[in-house]
Amino acid sequence: MQFSTLVITLFFSVFMSLFVAAAPLEERSINISGEHSGDGTYYATGLGACGIWNNDDDHIVAVGHDLFDNYPGYTGTNPNANPICNKKLTANYNGKSVTVTVVDRCVGCGPWDLDFSPAAFTKLAPESVGRLESVEWSFD
Ligand SMILES: *[C@@H]1O[C@H](CO)[C@@H](O)[C@H](O)[C@H]1NC(C)=O
Repeated sequence: MQFSTLVITLFFSVFMSLFVAAAPLEERSINISGEHSGDGTYYATGLGACGIWNNDDDHIVAVGHDLFDNYPGYTGTNPNANPICNKKLTANYNGKSVTVTVVDRCVGCGPWDLDFSPAAFTKLAPESVGRLESVEWSFD
């Protein structure tokens, strides 16, 4: 390779990496209105992504990381300040219903899955069921 070719190649790769770095982040929009459907599970509560301590008797829920991270108005810097925190939603399963407060982010959840506190989960089904399919829910 000639020296001039090397210089041009280096210049080009540096230029291209700047271009890629400067490209705007892909905007992801998520429509939070209306009815959603996802799996329902339960978890051992504690300190959640919203910065709130809860116990297993509270009617709280962790939402999927995709929903948490792309909730309208969230800047992505401080999860405690995510506007989804303290929002209420009502979930329905098999003729039963529970209203819960969003306090956490669920890493293992799909975008519309809900990970409930044990107390909230048992309003819908016994813990022995483990995973509920097609929990229908909407924000209050
Ligand atoms: C969001 O979903 C609701 C309910 O399904 C629908 O009526 C509305 O048109 C949707 N909004 C957008 C921007 O897609």
